[in-house]
Amino acid sequence: MIYVSRQEHFNAAHKLYNPAWSKEKNVEVFGPCANENWHGHNFDLIITVKGNPDPETGFVIDLKKLSKLIRAEVIEALDHKNLNLDVPFMKGKMASTEIVAQEIWKILEPRILSISKFGELHSVKLYETPRNYVEYFGE
Ligand code: NI
Repeated sequence: MIYVSRQEHFNAAHKLYNPAWSKEKNVEVFGPCANENWHGHNFDLIITVKGNPDPETGFVIDLKKLSKLIRAEVIEALDHKNLNLDVPFMKGKMASTEIVAQEIWKILEPRILSISKFGELHSVKLYETPRNYVEYFGE
């Protein structure tokens, strides 16, 4: 089994704010991340596909196709956007890095199968800052 990864980048604004709570409770739990007027991050997204190489090409997945897919299906929806307001697949959800990673999985998992006979999605790794990142394996 080989693990093949592609890194992409986007920047986006968000706030962490649970509308079911009071303003005080949001500030208590989320601190400055609850700032009403938003804040931004430079996100790095690493998509890993696993499988055995196609004997004809030696590839698990064509990284050019994977990059194109990630950009068309995910980056375009997120880059220079407000995660709370602008992104259809984040509507009504908490705009945490965890939830964004899970939503990216849901979008990419079936589409990766459609561009590669030999690879399947293994993980979505999303860096919110160089020191804070989440990793999702689909369960
Ligand atoms: Ni933040």
